[in-house]
Amino acid sequence: MHINIPTEFVSWFRSVTPYINTFRGKVFVIGFNGEMITDAKFVHFIHDINLLASLGVRLVLVHGARPQIQLRLDESQLKTQTVMDIRVTDPAALQCVKESVGRIHHEIAALLSMGLPNSPMANAAIKVSSGNFVIACPYGVIHGVDLLHTGKVRKINVQAITSNLEQGSVVLISPLGYSPTGEIFNLTMENVATETAIALRAEKLIFLWDTLTQHTSPAEEKMPLPREMTVEETKSLLGEKKIATQLSEEVQLFLQCAIKACEMPVARVHLINRHTDGAILQELFTHHGIGTMISKETLQAIRKARIDDVGGILKLIEPLEAEGILVRRGRELLEIEIDRFIVLEHDGIILGCAALYPFSEENSGELACLAIHRDYRNFGHGNRLLKYIEAQAASQGIHTLFVLTTHAMHWFIEHGFSVTTPADLPKAKQNFYNYQRRSKVLIKHL
Ligand code: ARG
Repeated sequence: MHINIPTEFVSWFRSVTPYINTFRGKVFVIGFNGEMITDAKFVHFIHDINLLASLGVRLVLVHGARPQIQLRLDESQLKTQTVMDIRVTDPAALQCVKESVGRIHHEIAALLSMGLPNSPMANAAIKVSSGNFVIACPYGVIHGVDLLHTGKVRKINVQAITSNLEQGSVVLISPLGYSPTGEIFNLTMENVATETAIALRAEKLIFLWDTLTQHTSPAEEKMPLPREMTVEETKSLLGEKKIATQLSEEVQLFLQCAIKACEMPVARVHLINRHTDGAILQELFTHHGIGTMISKETLQAIRKARIDDVGGILKLIEPLEAEGILVRRGRELLEIEIDRFIVLEHDGIILGCAALYPFSEENSGELACLAIHRDYRNFGHGNRLLKYIEAQAASQGIHTLFVLTTHAMHWFIEHGFSVTTPADLPKAKQNFYNYQRRSKVLIKHL
């Protein structure tokens, strides 16, 4: 995004205010693989981390180290056994793990400490904390093979992490854990990040992926994941072998972690492309994001309007009123009639509305003010709102629904309405029929 024009900059900056307010003081756990660290662009990611920290987001960074460990093992000419894709960490391998993880850890801490003038890090002064936050236990024996120093998370030291976050530090966690017996265990980044997010009851768990699908280079990723999935949708996606096996192993694993985290108290899990510069900012500070977001429940709902929806409804209908598509209603009238309205909400933003005005003497009702945000037309939202209004009408004993329209006659005909004359309108409505507007009158028997 190139923001050259001052007005664009100003409106863009204003548009992120709600996110800044929502995210301040919240815990985000961000997991990324070792591949990312070696990339020259990693420093941009660090700049974004700095930005988030400066906005008061409490950050826990969990890094991986797989390629670095592999390199170290190769250098030492050590071969390790794997069982079901899990590496057996024997004492010699553990030595390599400690060396590579330690090196990465310091490199990240160094990047987070930058403060060069004329860079986004100027005046940053980020405090980085790390420690024995992860308590681990051995993975155990699989198919008769003891995985030795390969382990899994047993417990997260929540209090220690929280007190560091409260003091304003960014917490940096390695994929290593310690046991009460004083041993070190080699863990996976995914396991550590997920368990940490769950234990901290984090607002968000964010994973950065390297490749989305199997057999393709990052540049030609074809099968994008949906922008948004519920836990149920994620489970059925993984259940469909044909689709799931097209996804990279990394992304399959992230999705499994997402299911686990969202079933526990983590509100949202985000999967984003590590190759896109500023992806994390685009994901966090825009309504639709850029990656895939998993949440327990769907974020979209049709419901009765409330008084605090008035602003959102006005924003939606004002452009249509200006074009003469809808009859002008002021804020006051809307406030008085808010009980007649329903809204289609997506993640706190009103994308559509409609109203039902009953005429009880004639057992009929007027469907009015049906509007969908221009960016969200042609997704079937109008149909959904209509269905909702029809059900509402039926439950109120309304037998016929009518609508006055100047622009959408065909849409209504396609949805079961037929054209009639103003003479068919309920008496009270006839008196108000605006002959200048010459709206078409359409009617539907329920
Ligand atoms: N920016 C919002 C958030 O961080 C919404 C992101 C939506 N992202 C998506 N992939 N659908 O919660």
